Amino acid sequence: MTPYEKLQNCLACVRKKTDFVPDVALILGSGLGALADEIETVATVDYHDIEGFPVSTVVGHKGRFVFGTFGDVKVVIMQGRVHFYEGYSREDILLPTRLMGLMGAKVLFLTNAAGGVNKDFRAGDFMLITDHIMSLFPNPLIGRNMDELGPRFPDMSQVYTKELQEKIIATAAKCNIPLQKGVYMQLTGPTFETPAEVRMVAALGGDAVGMSTACEAAAACHMGMKVCGISCITNQAAGISPTPLSHEEVFETANRVAPLFRQLVKESIIAIGEGLK
Ligand code: HPA
Repeated sequence: MTPYEKLQNCLACVRKKTDFVPDVALILGSGLGALADEIETVATVDYHDIEGFPVSTVVGHKGRFVFGTFGDVKVVIMQGRVHFYEGYSREDILLPTRLMGLMGAKVLFLTNAAGGVNKDFRAGDFMLITDHIMSLFPNPLIGRNMDELGPRFPDMSQVYTKELQEKIIATAAKCNIPLQKGVYMQLTGPTFETPAEVRMVAALGGDAVGMSTACEAAAACHMGMKVCGISCITNQAAGISPTPLSHEEVFETANRVAPLFRQLVKESIIAIGEGLK
């Protein structure tokens, strides 16, 4: 089976359960999964029921698609994502994003937990992702190009669509939620960075660092989806933070700010959905 046939096979598995056609695909990061409770649920599909679908091994990541609506915007939520550090191939990491694109989603909305590299950032801040740096991460599009989806050499000059960024900025202002802006750098993990690596990220122009997102954004951009994303800065990055980093800290902060984060993402999606009509 070619990778494209595998993707089509996954789509057929989903289609056996639901014919829902989403406008927006939403990926929830660590500690942010509860956002799926806000949606008017139409259907759910467990990843286990999709043949060949990569299932996350990380604690706190549920494994299912939730289909439903925010206002009248049709959304598929990915509750739990897979990471490169779990040992999956690059193709498997891109598969869920591509699958949601093939389901019909025109927009990919990414969320993640990230370390704050910009010294103005504090734990609990939200950062609108304006661009990313993926060059230190193995490029996920290496390998035979899926010509069915997009070109061999995809343009990445505006991965995070300006128009979507503006909707998120306007939504944050309307909801009175402070919003930082910056560049997200993806490293592989699973180790958190050393202080020297954090200085490297800063020197290269990164404002936040994490272990996901850029590869999914690149895959979505490759297949012509519009992309936007918000990082939840769960901690100051190593060397900036006075204390050692832990997954627990990431979760604690994500949980603490979850209600505001949920509001920001939900309202942004409703605003984005209006623009799609
Ligand atoms: N580094 C990398 N990934 C992360 C961090 C961090 O400091 N915080 C949350 N995810």
